[in-house]
Amino acid sequence: MPVPPPRAGRLLLLVPTQSYRAEDFLAAARRLEVPVLVGTDRCHRIEDAFGPTEGLLSIDYRRPEAAAQEIAREAAREPISGVVPVDDGTAVIAALAAERLGLPRNPPAAARRTANKLAQRQALAAAGLPVPWFRAFPLAPGPEAAALEVPYPCVLKPLGLSGSRGVIRADGPGAFRIAWRRIEAILAAARSDRKAREGGEGSRLLVESFVPGAEVALEGLLRAGQLELLALFDKPDPLDGPYFEETLYVTPSRHPAAVRDEIIRIVAAAAQALGLREGPVHAEARLGPDGPVVLEVAARTIGGLCARALRFGAGASLEEIVVAHAVGLPVDSIRRESRASGVMMLPIPRRGVLHGVSGLEGARSVPGVEDVVVTAPECREVVPLPEGDAYLGFLFARGETPDAVESSLREAHRRLAFDIRAPLPTVR
Ligand SMILES: Nc1ncnc2c1ncn2[C@@H]1O[C@H](COP(=O)(O)OP(=O)(O)O)[C@@H](O)[C@H]1O
Ligand SMILES: [Mg+2]
Repeated sequence: MPVPPPRAGRLLLLVPTQSYRAEDFLAAARRLEVPVLVGTDRCHRIEDAFGPTEGLLSIDYRRPEAAAQEIAREAAREPISGVVPVDDGTAVIAALAAERLGLPRNPPAAARRTANKLAQRQALAAAGLPVPWFRAFPLAPGPEAAALEVPYPCVLKPLGLSGSRGVIRADGPGAFRIAWRRIEAILAAARSDRKAREGGEGSRLLVESFVPGAEVALEGLLRAGQLELLALFDKPDPLDGPYFEETLYVTPSRHPAAVRDEIIRIVAAAAQALGLREGPVHAEARLGPDGPVVLEVAARTIGGLCARALRFGAGASLEEIVVAHAVGLPVDSIRRESRASGVMMLPIPRRGVLHGVSGLEGARSVPGVEDVVVTAPECREVVPLPEGDAYLGFLFARGETPDAVESSLREAHRRLAFDIRAPLPTVR
Protein backbone atom coordinates (compact mmCIF):
# COMPACT_ATOMS: atom_id res chain seq x y z
CA MET A 1 0.00 0.00 0.00
CA PRO A 2 1.35 3.46 -0.80
CA VAL A 3 2.30 5.47 2.23
CA PRO A 4 0.04 8.55 2.51
CA PRO A 5 1.93 11.83 2.34
CA PRO A 6 2.69 13.24 5.78
CA ARG A 7 0.00 15.67 6.89
CA ALA A 8 1.56 18.97 7.78
CA GLY A 9 1.37 20.16 11.36
CA ARG A 10 0.23 23.58 12.48
CA LEU A 11 1.70 26.77 11.16
CA LEU A 12 2.08 29.77 13.43
CA LEU A 13 1.76 32.94 11.38
CA LEU A 14 3.05 36.03 13.17
CA VAL A 15 0.97 38.91 11.90
CA PRO A 16 2.03 42.45 12.70
CA THR A 17 -0.48 44.91 14.09
CA GLN A 18 -0.97 46.55 10.79
CA SER A 19 -0.60 44.39 7.72
CA TYR A 20 -2.52 43.35 4.69
CA ARG A 21 -0.09 40.49 4.12
CA ALA A 22 -1.98 38.10 6.42
CA GLU A 23 -4.72 37.37 3.90
CA ASP A 24 -2.33 35.98 1.26
CA PHE A 25 -0.51 33.80 3.80
CA LEU A 26 -3.81 32.43 5.08
CA ALA A 27 -4.97 31.69 1.53
CA ALA A 28 -1.67 29.88 0.89
CA ALA A 29 -2.05 27.76 4.01
CA ARG A 30 -5.62 26.86 3.02
CA ARG A 31 -4.48 25.75 -0.42
CA LEU A 32 -1.79 23.58 1.16
CA GLU A 33 -4.27 22.31 3.79
CA VAL A 34 -1.96 23.49 6.54
CA PRO A 35 -3.83 24.43 9.73
CA VAL A 36 -2.95 27.92 10.94
CA LEU A 37 -2.64 29.57 14.30
CA VAL A 38 -2.52 33.34 13.92
CA GLY A 39 -0.19 35.13 16.31
CA THR A 40 -1.24 38.70 16.91
CA ASP A 41 -0.63 41.52 19.35
CA ARG A 42 -4.09 42.89 18.81
CA CYS A 43 -7.13 41.94 20.88
CA HIS A 44 -9.21 38.86 20.09
CA ARG A 45 -12.05 40.82 18.56
CA ILE A 46 -10.07 41.01 15.34
CA GLU A 47 -10.99 37.38 14.61
CA ASP A 48 -13.30 38.52 11.82
CA ALA A 49 -10.45 40.32 10.10
CA PHE A 50 -8.61 37.04 9.58
CA GLY A 51 -11.48 34.73 8.64
CA PRO A 52 -11.69 31.10 9.71
CA THR A 53 -8.44 29.88 11.19
CA GLU A 54 -7.52 27.32 13.74
CA GLY A 55 -7.20 29.99 16.34
CA LEU A 56 -5.56 33.12 17.57
CA LEU A 57 -2.66 33.44 19.93
CA SER A 58 -2.25 36.76 21.69
CA ILE A 59 1.41 37.67 21.96
CA ASP A 60 3.14 40.79 23.21
CA TYR A 61 5.44 41.62 20.31
CA ARG A 62 7.33 44.20 22.36
CA ARG A 63 8.94 41.43 24.43
CA PRO A 64 10.42 38.87 22.01
CA GLU A 65 11.79 36.47 24.70
CA ALA A 66 8.49 36.35 26.55
CA ALA A 67 6.64 36.00 23.25
CA ALA A 68 8.79 32.98 22.32
CA GLN A 69 8.09 31.44 25.74
CA GLU A 70 4.36 31.93 25.20
CA ILE A 71 4.64 30.23 21.81
CA ALA A 72 6.54 27.29 23.34
CA ARG A 73 3.75 26.91 25.94
CA GLU A 74 1.16 26.81 23.18
CA ALA A 75 3.25 24.26 21.22
CA ALA A 76 3.40 22.02 24.32
CA ARG A 77 -0.40 22.02 24.31
CA GLU A 78 -0.61 21.24 20.60
CA PRO A 79 2.45 20.96 18.36
CA ILE A 80 3.53 23.75 16.01
CA SER A 81 5.53 22.64 12.95
CA GLY A 82 6.59 25.98 11.55
CA VAL A 83 6.66 29.69 12.38
CA VAL A 84 6.36 32.33 9.66
CA PRO A 85 6.98 35.98 10.47
CA VAL A 86 5.30 38.53 8.23
CA ASP A 87 7.58 41.50 8.96
CA ASP A 88 11.01 42.43 10.36
CA GLY A 89 9.83 42.83 13.95
CA THR A 90 8.18 39.42 14.10
CA ALA A 91 11.20 37.79 12.40
CA VAL A 92 13.13 37.96 15.67
CA ILE A 93 10.26 36.38 17.61
CA ALA A 94 9.93 33.65 14.97
CA ALA A 95 13.63 32.83 15.27
CA LEU A 96 13.48 32.69 19.08
CA ALA A 97 10.34 30.55 19.03
CA ALA A 98 11.66 28.15 16.38
CA GLU A 99 14.83 27.74 18.44
CA ARG A 100 12.79 26.71 21.46
CA LEU A 101 10.74 24.31 19.33
CA GLY A 102 13.82 22.82 17.63
CA LEU A 103 12.63 23.75 14.15
CA PRO A 104 14.91 24.68 11.23
CA ARG A 105 15.35 28.42 11.62
CA ASN A 106 17.41 31.54 11.42
CA PRO A 107 19.57 31.87 14.54
CA PRO A 108 17.95 34.57 16.73
CA ALA A 109 21.19 36.60 16.68
CA ALA A 110 21.06 36.59 12.87
CA ALA A 111 17.45 37.76 12.86
CA ARG A 112 18.36 40.56 15.31
CA ARG A 113 21.40 41.61 13.28
CA THR A 114 19.31 41.69 10.12
CA ALA A 115 16.56 43.82 11.67
CA ASN A 116 19.03 46.52 12.78
CA LYS A 117 20.48 48.63 9.97
CA LEU A 118 23.73 49.43 11.80
CA ALA A 119 24.37 45.82 12.92
CA GLN A 120 23.63 44.72 9.36
CA ARG A 121 26.12 47.18 7.87
CA GLN A 122 28.77 46.10 10.36
CA ALA A 123 28.26 42.43 9.52
CA LEU A 124 28.46 43.03 5.77
CA ALA A 125 31.55 45.24 6.11
CA ALA A 126 33.25 42.67 8.37
CA ALA A 127 32.64 40.01 5.71
CA GLY A 128 34.39 42.19 3.15
CA LEU A 129 31.26 42.92 1.14
CA PRO A 130 31.01 46.26 -0.64
CA VAL A 131 29.13 48.70 1.61
CA PRO A 132 28.73 52.47 1.45
CA TRP A 133 30.60 54.63 3.96
CA PHE A 134 28.50 54.47 7.15
CA ARG A 135 28.45 55.74 10.69
CA ALA A 136 25.90 55.85 13.51
CA PHE A 137 25.41 59.09 15.45
CA PRO A 138 23.64 59.58 18.78
CA LEU A 139 20.74 61.99 18.35
CA ALA A 140 21.24 63.74 21.67
CA PRO A 141 24.11 66.11 20.72
CA GLY A 142 22.18 67.36 17.69
CA PRO A 143 23.26 67.48 14.05
CA GLU A 144 25.85 70.30 14.12
CA ALA A 145 29.09 68.32 14.51
CA ALA A 146 27.84 65.34 12.49
CA ALA A 147 26.90 67.60 9.57
CA LEU A 148 30.59 68.48 9.16
CA GLU A 149 31.87 64.91 9.44
CA VAL A 150 29.85 63.05 6.81
CA PRO A 151 30.47 62.77 3.06
CA TYR A 152 27.88 64.30 0.71
CA PRO A 153 25.53 63.32 -0.77
CA CYS A 154 24.51 61.05 2.11
CA VAL A 155 21.45 59.21 3.34
CA LEU A 156 20.17 59.49 6.91
CA LYS A 157 18.04 56.67 8.29
CA PRO A 158 16.62 55.28 11.51
CA LEU A 159 18.13 51.97 12.63
CA GLY A 160 14.93 50.01 13.12
CA LEU A 161 12.15 51.24 10.85
CA SER A 162 11.32 49.90 7.40
CA GLY A 163 9.49 50.73 4.19
CA SER A 164 11.75 53.76 3.59
CA ARG A 165 10.21 55.42 6.63
CA GLY A 166 12.52 58.19 7.80
CA VAL A 167 15.06 57.57 5.02
CA ILE A 168 16.22 60.96 3.69
CA ARG A 169 18.99 62.05 1.34
CA ALA A 170 20.97 65.19 2.15
CA ASP A 171 23.29 66.94 -0.33
CA GLY A 172 24.87 69.33 2.15
CA PRO A 173 25.01 70.37 5.84
CA GLY A 174 21.82 72.48 5.63
CA ALA A 175 19.71 69.63 4.31
CA PHE A 176 21.46 67.27 6.75
CA ARG A 177 20.34 69.32 9.77
CA ILE A 178 16.75 69.48 8.52
CA ALA A 179 16.67 65.73 7.77
CA TRP A 180 18.11 64.97 11.21
CA ARG A 181 15.37 66.93 12.99
CA ARG A 182 12.73 65.33 10.84
CA ILE A 183 13.94 61.80 11.68
CA GLU A 184 14.09 62.75 15.35
CA ALA A 185 10.39 63.63 15.17
CA ILE A 186 9.56 60.41 13.30
CA LEU A 187 11.36 58.37 15.96
CA ALA A 188 9.60 60.23 18.76
CA ALA A 189 6.24 59.48 17.11
CA ALA A 190 7.25 55.83 16.59
CA ARG A 191 8.08 55.45 20.27
CA SER A 192 4.62 56.54 21.32
CA ASP A 193 3.09 54.40 18.61
CA ARG A 194 3.07 50.69 19.37
CA LYS A 195 2.64 49.71 15.75
CA ALA A 196 6.10 50.93 14.81
CA ARG A 197 8.62 48.89 16.75
CA GLU A 198 11.97 50.52 16.36
CA GLY A 199 13.88 47.91 18.28
CA GLY A 200 14.81 50.27 21.10
CA GLU A 201 17.13 51.97 18.65
CA GLY A 202 15.42 55.33 18.64
CA SER A 203 18.34 57.22 20.16
CA ARG A 204 20.69 56.98 17.17
CA LEU A 205 20.58 57.38 13.46
CA LEU A 206 22.64 55.90 10.66
CA VAL A 207 24.32 57.99 7.99
CA GLU A 208 25.58 56.40 4.77
CA SER A 209 27.15 57.75 1.62
CA PHE A 210 24.57 57.87 -1.18
CA VAL A 211 25.19 55.08 -3.69
CA PRO A 212 24.06 56.25 -7.13
CA GLY A 213 22.75 53.80 -9.72
CA ALA A 214 19.86 51.57 -10.65
CA GLU A 215 18.18 49.62 -7.87
CA VAL A 216 17.06 45.98 -7.93
CA ALA A 217 15.19 43.79 -5.47
CA LEU A 218 15.76 40.08 -4.96
CA GLU A 219 13.36 37.54 -3.52
CA GLY A 220 15.02 34.36 -2.39
CA LEU A 221 14.56 31.30 -0.25
CA LEU A 222 17.21 30.05 2.13
CA ARG A 223 17.34 26.31 2.69
CA ALA A 224 20.07 25.01 4.99
CA GLY A 225 21.99 28.24 4.41
CA GLN A 226 21.82 28.05 0.60
CA LEU A 227 20.15 30.94 -1.19
CA GLU A 228 17.86 30.01 -4.06
CA LEU A 229 16.62 32.73 -6.36
CA LEU A 230 12.85 33.19 -6.55
CA ALA A 231 12.77 36.45 -8.50
CA LEU A 232 14.94 39.40 -9.40
CA PHE A 233 13.07 42.67 -9.91
CA ASP A 234 14.23 45.83 -11.64
CA LYS A 235 13.03 49.06 -10.03
CA PRO A 236 13.01 51.19 -13.17
CA ASP A 237 11.97 54.50 -11.58
CA PRO A 238 15.06 56.39 -10.38
CA LEU A 239 15.32 56.35 -6.59
CA ASP A 240 17.46 59.44 -6.08
CA GLY A 241 15.66 60.92 -3.09
CA PRO A 242 15.36 63.02 -1.07
CA TYR A 243 12.65 60.49 -0.07
CA PHE A 244 12.53 56.96 -1.37
CA GLU A 245 8.96 56.02 -2.13
CA GLU A 246 8.88 52.80 -4.09
CA THR A 247 6.91 52.53 -7.29
CA LEU A 248 7.71 50.01 -10.00
CA TYR A 249 8.93 46.44 -9.62
CA VAL A 250 9.37 44.47 -12.88
CA THR A 251 10.66 40.93 -13.32
CA PRO A 252 12.62 39.34 -14.96
CA SER A 253 15.43 41.83 -14.65
CA ARG A 254 16.66 43.44 -17.86
CA HIS A 255 20.23 43.80 -16.61
CA PRO A 256 22.87 41.66 -18.35
CA ALA A 257 23.31 38.09 -17.11
CA ALA A 258 26.74 38.85 -15.64
CA VAL A 259 25.27 41.69 -13.54
CA ARG A 260 22.34 39.53 -12.42
CA ASP A 261 24.72 36.75 -11.39
CA GLU A 262 26.85 39.20 -9.42
CA ILE A 263 23.75 40.52 -7.60
CA ILE A 264 22.71 36.99 -6.65
CA ARG A 265 26.25 36.26 -5.50
CA ILE A 266 26.54 39.31 -3.23
CA VAL A 267 23.05 38.84 -1.76
CA ALA A 268 23.90 35.19 -0.97
CA ALA A 269 27.17 36.36 0.61
CA ALA A 270 25.29 39.02 2.59
CA ALA A 271 22.75 36.49 3.90
CA GLN A 272 25.64 34.28 4.94
CA ALA A 273 27.47 37.18 6.60
CA LEU A 274 24.32 37.93 8.59
CA GLY A 275 24.05 34.28 9.61
CA LEU A 276 20.64 33.72 8.02
CA ARG A 277 19.87 30.07 7.20
CA GLU A 278 16.20 29.32 6.59
CA GLY A 279 13.20 30.98 5.02
CA PRO A 280 12.50 33.92 2.76
CA VAL A 281 14.81 36.86 2.12
CA HIS A 282 13.99 40.15 0.47
CA ALA A 283 17.06 42.14 -0.53
CA GLU A 284 17.74 45.46 -2.23
CA ALA A 285 20.90 46.24 -4.13
CA ARG A 286 22.22 49.19 -6.14
CA LEU A 287 24.31 48.93 -9.26
CA GLY A 288 26.87 51.44 -8.11
CA PRO A 289 29.81 52.87 -10.09
CA ASP A 290 32.10 50.17 -8.66
CA GLY A 291 29.64 47.27 -9.02
CA PRO A 292 26.59 46.01 -7.14
CA VAL A 293 26.22 47.02 -3.48
CA VAL A 294 23.76 45.34 -1.10
CA LEU A 295 21.62 48.03 0.48
CA GLU A 296 19.65 45.75 2.70
CA VAL A 297 18.64 42.14 3.37
CA ALA A 298 15.42 41.38 5.26
CA ALA A 299 14.43 37.96 6.64
CA ARG A 300 10.92 38.09 5.21
CA THR A 301 9.09 38.32 1.91
CA ILE A 302 8.59 41.49 -0.13
CA GLY A 303 6.22 43.98 1.53
CA GLY A 304 2.75 45.23 0.76
CA LEU A 305 0.83 43.20 -1.80
CA CYS A 306 3.84 43.03 -4.16
CA ALA A 307 4.19 39.25 -3.81
CA ARG A 308 1.02 38.94 -5.89
CA ALA A 309 3.20 39.70 -8.90
CA LEU A 310 4.90 36.33 -8.46
CA ARG A 311 3.78 32.84 -9.49
CA PHE A 312 5.81 29.67 -9.40
CA GLY A 313 5.64 26.18 -10.92
CA ALA A 314 2.04 25.23 -11.60
CA GLY A 315 0.76 28.53 -10.18
CA ALA A 316 1.93 28.56 -6.56
CA SER A 317 2.18 31.89 -4.75
CA LEU A 318 5.27 33.14 -2.92
CA GLU A 319 3.38 32.58 0.33
CA GLU A 320 2.74 28.93 -0.58
CA ILE A 321 6.47 28.38 -1.02
CA VAL A 322 7.24 30.06 2.30
CA VAL A 323 4.51 28.18 4.20
CA ALA A 324 5.45 24.81 2.67
CA HIS A 325 9.10 25.35 3.52
CA ALA A 326 8.28 26.45 7.07
CA VAL A 327 6.21 23.39 7.96
CA GLY A 328 8.50 20.95 6.16
CA LEU A 329 6.25 20.10 3.22
CA PRO A 330 7.99 19.46 -0.10
CA VAL A 331 8.38 22.71 -2.07
CA ASP A 332 7.22 21.70 -5.56
CA SER A 333 8.93 24.27 -7.73
CA ILE A 334 10.61 27.56 -7.09
CA ARG A 335 10.77 28.32 -10.80
CA ARG A 336 8.95 31.53 -11.60
CA GLU A 337 6.50 31.52 -14.54
CA SER A 338 8.03 32.40 -17.91
CA ARG A 339 5.96 35.57 -18.47
CA ALA A 340 7.16 38.99 -17.37
CA SER A 341 5.32 40.46 -14.42
CA GLY A 342 5.29 43.64 -12.42
CA VAL A 343 3.69 45.70 -9.72
CA MET A 344 3.47 49.42 -9.11
CA MET A 345 3.15 50.61 -5.54
CA LEU A 346 1.15 53.82 -5.56
CA PRO A 347 2.89 56.38 -3.38
CA ILE A 348 0.95 59.03 -1.47
CA PRO A 349 1.68 62.28 -3.33
CA ARG A 350 0.72 64.66 -0.51
CA ARG A 351 -0.74 64.77 2.96
CA GLY A 352 -4.51 65.08 3.17
CA VAL A 353 -7.77 63.20 3.38
CA LEU A 354 -8.45 60.67 0.62
CA HIS A 355 -11.90 61.54 -0.72
CA GLY A 356 -11.98 59.06 -3.54
CA VAL A 357 -10.25 57.36 -6.45
CA SER A 358 -11.37 57.70 -10.06
CA GLY A 359 -10.25 56.05 -13.26
CA LEU A 360 -10.26 52.52 -11.85
CA GLU A 361 -12.13 51.06 -14.82
CA GLY A 362 -9.83 52.83 -17.26
CA ALA A 363 -6.78 51.53 -15.43
CA ARG A 364 -8.15 47.97 -15.34
CA SER A 365 -8.82 48.04 -19.07
CA VAL A 366 -5.18 48.71 -20.02
CA PRO A 367 -3.92 45.60 -21.87
CA GLY A 368 -1.73 43.54 -19.59
CA VAL A 369 -3.12 45.01 -16.39
CA GLU A 370 -4.46 42.21 -14.20
CA ASP A 371 -5.52 43.98 -11.06
CA VAL A 372 -5.86 47.39 -9.45
CA VAL A 373 -6.12 47.32 -5.67
CA VAL A 374 -6.68 50.45 -3.60
CA THR A 375 -5.61 49.80 -0.02
CA ALA A 376 -5.86 53.29 1.50
CA PRO A 377 -9.25 53.70 3.17
CA GLU A 378 -11.38 56.61 1.96
CA CYS A 379 -12.15 59.52 4.27
CA ARG A 380 -8.95 58.93 6.24
CA GLU A 381 -5.81 60.98 6.35
CA VAL A 382 -2.98 59.74 4.14
CA VAL A 383 0.61 60.70 4.96
CA PRO A 384 3.45 60.54 2.40
CA LEU A 385 7.02 59.43 3.11
CA PRO A 386 9.23 60.00 4.96
CA GLU A 387 6.69 60.19 7.82
CA GLY A 388 4.06 57.87 6.35
CA ASP A 389 4.12 54.10 6.32
CA ALA A 390 1.51 53.20 3.73
CA TYR A 391 0.72 53.30 0.03
CA LEU A 392 -2.48 54.20 -1.80
CA GLY A 393 -2.60 50.82 -3.50
CA PHE A 394 -1.05 48.47 -6.03
CA LEU A 395 -1.27 47.89 -9.79
CA PHE A 396 -0.42 44.49 -11.25
CA ALA A 397 0.43 43.59 -14.85
CA ARG A 398 1.76 40.67 -16.87
CA GLY A 399 3.09 40.56 -20.42
CA GLU A 400 5.48 38.97 -22.85
CA THR A 401 8.35 41.29 -21.95
CA PRO A 402 9.40 43.43 -18.99
CA ASP A 403 9.14 46.53 -21.24
CA ALA A 404 5.50 45.70 -22.05
CA VAL A 405 4.72 45.21 -18.36
CA GLU A 406 6.36 48.50 -17.44
CA SER A 407 4.37 50.36 -20.15
CA SER A 408 1.09 48.80 -18.98
CA LEU A 409 1.73 49.83 -15.40
CA ARG A 410 2.68 53.39 -16.34
CA GLU A 411 -0.39 53.76 -18.54
CA ALA A 412 -2.72 52.39 -15.84
CA HIS A 413 -1.17 54.79 -13.34
CA ARG A 414 -1.77 57.73 -15.69
CA ARG A 415 -5.46 56.85 -15.80
CA LEU A 416 -5.91 56.93 -12.03
CA ALA A 417 -6.75 60.08 -10.10
CA PHE A 418 -6.66 60.34 -6.32
CA ASP A 419 -8.78 63.07 -4.78
CA ILE A 420 -6.73 64.12 -1.75
CA ARG A 421 -7.90 67.26 0.04
CA ALA A 422 -6.61 69.28 2.94
CA PRO A 423 -8.13 68.05 6.22
CA LEU A 424 -10.88 70.30 7.64
CA PRO A 425 -9.68 72.40 10.57
CA THR A 426 -10.68 70.95 13.93
CA VAL A 427 -13.70 72.78 15.39
CA ARG A 428 -13.42 73.37 19.11
N1 LIG B 1 23.23 54.40 0.99
C1 LIG B 1 22.24 54.55 0.12
N2 LIG B 1 22.47 54.99 -1.14
C2 LIG B 1 21.46 55.16 -2.03
N3 LIG B 1 20.18 54.93 -1.75
C3 LIG B 1 19.86 54.48 -0.53
C4 LIG B 1 20.87 54.26 0.47
N4 LIG B 1 20.25 53.83 1.58
C5 LIG B 1 18.95 53.77 1.30
N5 LIG B 1 18.68 54.16 0.04
C6 LIG B 1 17.39 54.23 -0.63
O1 LIG B 1 16.38 54.24 0.37
C7 LIG B 1 15.57 53.05 0.30
C8 LIG B 1 15.20 52.59 1.69
O2 LIG B 1 16.36 52.38 2.45
P1 LIG B 1 16.59 51.04 3.29
O3 LIG B 1 17.91 51.14 3.95
O4 LIG B 1 16.35 49.88 2.43
O5 LIG B 1 15.48 51.15 4.42
P2 LIG B 1 14.04 50.45 4.59
O6 LIG B 1 14.27 49.35 5.56
O7 LIG B 1 13.19 51.52 5.14
O8 LIG B 1 13.61 49.92 3.26
C9 LIG B 1 16.40 52.07 -0.49
O9 LIG B 1 15.62 51.11 -1.15
C10 LIG B 1 17.15 53.00 -1.46
O10 LIG B 1 16.32 53.35 -2.57
MG1 LIG C 1 14.72 48.55 2.26
